Amino acid sequence: MKASIGRVATAAQALGEAGFGGGYACAIALGTGLGAVVEALEIERMIAYANVPHFPASGVSGHKGRLVAGRLAGRRVLILEGRSHYYETGDAAAMHVPLGAIAALGAPVLMLTNAAGSTRPETRPGALVAIADHIAFSGLNPLIGETDDRRFVPMTNAYDPALRALLRDAAGAIGEPIEEGVYMWFSGPSFETPAEIRMARALGADLVGMSTVPEAILARFFGLRVAGVSVVTNMAAGIGDGSPSHAETKAVAGETGGRLARLLDAFVARLPETETAP
Ligand code: HPA
Repeated sequence: MKASIGRVATAAQALGEAGFGGGYACAIALGTGLGAVVEALEIERMIAYANVPHFPASGVSGHKGRLVAGRLAGRRVLILEGRSHYYETGDAAAMHVPLGAIAALGAPVLMLTNAAGSTRPETRPGALVAIADHIAFSGLNPLIGETDDRRFVPMTNAYDPALRALLRDAAGAIGEPIEEGVYMWFSGPSFETPAEIRMARALGADLVGMSTVPEAILARFFGLRVAGVSVVTNMAAGIGDGSPSHAETKAVAGETGGRLARLLDAFVARLPETETAP
């Protein structure tokens, strides 16, 4: 990463040449097992990350690794289907180029979705939770090594309050209950211990997961407005009989993806008009 304006510009140019320019209402990063959102899309074009210069290779099962442009609620959206995680690469900035490219292609809003564990006994698998704030518990930061003052990104309202209000409105309109919570980022790939989850709860975390936080920081760095939704796939370790597994994460995310897609459809329908392409 570091000082990679050139890499972002190269990726954005290649995507422009592949027909991905023209502005979008929103970009959406999909979490593990949440591919149903793409099925709800009227697809215009797609490209494998492997064919975009400087995009990461995404190798986790449950992730495809492709960028998809299409329409949701009649609005142009860009979907990052698959993300590169810190635990794959040891690089907290693994999503630097894709997120910079999204900003350059004219998507002003980034919706981050993920599968997460719940530390709240009353928030059960299948719940949709709007991310209100985060805790970068891994201690890592994707902006380490950036050299200019833009690196001092304010994170006070990182999860845009107006977008959270749109999410609540969208959820209400489709009769989908939505909660709000604080997401704590553990590096993974091992799941947490029950003692770590007790700590997470004591520190104010409602959700735990292995993604999203570095992307929210990078997105704010690139000037994107950020929203986030967690799909609760399991009770976090030691909460009730919670003993998370990747198989369970994928299965519950798969079952819940359709509801997430409906929520995102209603959310995108409420975003301001910004796209410029026909
Ligand atoms: N912990 C961390 N990451 C996760 C979990 C969890 O319980 N569930 C889904 N992703």
